[in-house]
Parts: sequence; structure tokens; C-alpha cells
Amino acid sequence: MDEKPGRSLVLVKPDGVGRGLIGKVLSAIEEEGLKIAELAMLTLDKERAQRFYGVHKEKGFFGDLIEFITSGPIVALVVEGDDVIPRVREIMGATNPKEARPGTIRARFGESIQRNVVHGSDSESSFEYEYEVIFGS
Ligand code: RTP
Ligand code: MG
Repeated sequence: MDEKPGRSLVLVKPDGVGRGLIGKVLSAIEEEGLKIAELAMLTLDKERAQRFYGVHKEKGFFGDLIEFITSGPIVALVVEGDDVIPRVREIMGATNPKEARPGTIRARFGESIQRNVVHGSDSESSFEYEYEVIFGS
């Protein structure tokens, strides 16, 4: 029986949209051989942003993160492919652009640990949760 391809929820964050990097992110995903299955541009309100990043609510950077992610439009993608979650994390690079492998999206375009251009799901269960927050009713 064929296994269904995996899915990852990817965001081009407000810094990436604002700086004209949507195309660069989409290209990096497509050049990796992954498929863009859904795409939407939206602006998160505080409540939805707090739900999206709920795992970080106790962190010192939570307030700043919510401010940042609600500061302008984002592009949300569902990306499909085999092993998609680790492959997207690989082409994004480490959270801190200074520590990201050369050639990754964050190494090429990230300005700081916060303004790091992209988000990608870190597990299947995160995908399910994030998909509901972004694309659910
Ligand atoms: P993401 O969830 O956005 O894909 O990023 P990630 O897994 O690589 O990093 P995570 O630890 O989940 O952090 C979520 C986002 O919060 C911001 N952040 N700021 N010390 C800080 O100021 C700090 N640490 C994290 C970043 O935008 C990070 O991507
Ligand atoms: Mg994360």
C-alpha cells in the first residue's frame, strides 16, 4: 500500500513578506522537489498568533514573538512530500541565522533569531495543530 506523502505547515513571516522574499522561499521549497499543496496570505490577530505559538507561552520571548508575527501579512503554505518535515527544517536552517548552515533560507535572508523569515512544522502533531489554527474554520 502506498504511503501518503507527509505535510508541513510553512509560514513566510512578516519580515519575509515585507522584504519581498515570498518568491525566494517558494523557489527554495520547489527546488528541493517538494510540492506546494495549499497557499494563503493572511494577517494573524493576537488571539490566533497566541494559539499558533502556544507551546512558547512561558518563554521570555513570547510577547515579542506575538508582536512580530502579527506585525504584517504572512504567507501560509501546506508543503507535501516524502520526509517533508525534516527536509523543510533542513532548507530553512537553524532558528538563529548566525548558526544556520550556509545556503539555507535563514542563513541567506534572516536578520536575527526573531526575524528569521520562515516557520516550518517540527513534527506531524505540530502540523495537525498548526493546520487547524491557520486553515481550519
Ligand atoms: P519556527 O517555530 O518559527 O519554525 O522556528 P523554530 O522552530 O526554529 O524556533 P522556535 O524555538 O520554535 O521559536 C519560534 C520562533 O520564535 C522566535 N524566537 N525568538 N530568543 C528569541 O528572541 C527567540 N527565540 C525564538 C523566532 O522567530 C523563532 O523562529
Ligand atoms: Mg518551532
